[in-house]
Amino acid sequence: MLRRPRRNRKSAALRAMVQEHFLHKSQLILPLFLLDRPGRQAIESMPGVLRMGLEELKAHMQVCMEAGVTNFALFPVVPEGLKDATATYSYVQDNFYLQAISQLKKEFPTCSLMSDVAMDPYSSDGHDGLVQDGEILNDASIEILEKMAIAQAQAGVDIIGPSDMMDGRIGAMRHALETAGHRNISILSYSAKYASGYYGPFRDAVGASGALQGDKKTYQMDPGNSDEALRLVERDLQEGADMVMVKPGIAYLDICHRVKSTFGTPTFAYQVSGEYAMIQAAAQNGWIDGEKVMLESLMAFKRAGCDGVLSYFAPQAARILNG
Ligand code: PBG
Repeated sequence: MLRRPRRNRKSAALRAMVQEHFLHKSQLILPLFLLDRPGRQAIESMPGVLRMGLEELKAHMQVCMEAGVTNFALFPVVPEGLKDATATYSYVQDNFYLQAISQLKKEFPTCSLMSDVAMDPYSSDGHDGLVQDGEILNDASIEILEKMAIAQAQAGVDIIGPSDMMDGRIGAMRHALETAGHRNISILSYSAKYASGYYGPFRDAVGASGALQGDKKTYQMDPGNSDEALRLVERDLQEGADMVMVKPGIAYLDICHRVKSTFGTPTFAYQVSGEYAMIQAAAQNGWIDGEKVMLESLMAFKRAGCDGVLSYFAPQAARILNG
């Protein structure tokens, strides 16, 4: 008997009827760049993405919320003068990032707000951990990361997002949070984060590329490994992570799929700055249909088993999904 799968593709209604995977606005997380001062700044390598002061950011979030984007991941752009070797500024009381977290949660109580836990935005060395004689120290970094996590929890963040890749940080943070009485803070661990070339535009955006010596290969994963990602996810879940992330996205869909099918835990992918930049650049040149490729790339994460995606495209995607 001749098989004719094309029958199920003959009309839009039929195609929709048999569609297997769906994008939902509720599962998009928009990364945002916060300035310590009023204003809006363009990021050359991320066309369409802006660094914003708190008031401008509030206005932007309002528009995003109206379009149905309710999840945000906030990153600080810290002035050089506030950076030091031990990232002290990351947990001081008058830190503009912590103050913004409190204000944003007051202004938008129904949104979910995720923080970034890593030293690189605050470090004069530009690394995610403490540098001593060219080495990135693990355990000494964790003491700083714990303070950062507690300060962010106190500020009222919903989800802590450790992006640093030090060993043992999830257990240490979870313990510190519980001890301080923050029992309901979620941890979305950047569990399988690769030492990737796709992060370039982000480092420009937060001003972390200038000082950075060498690479991040002693703490971020080798692109040649995949079983290791499963071990890291398993460890982070055992240490107290509620959700896990694979990063970057499109080049690591196999990892997303393996993580979801092995652990069944809430799994997110980060469609990172370089992925965004590539699509935007080709679209601006008229070489691809930007909207189509954006939606197609986001759908790939769903097909691979991800629950949600961190993406700079979140507002545009939400608008299209709204019709
Ligand atoms: C660092 C961090 C990076 C990103 C998020 N947090 C870059 C890096 O590891 O150097 C990248 C995000 C992106 O490229 O969009 N803690």
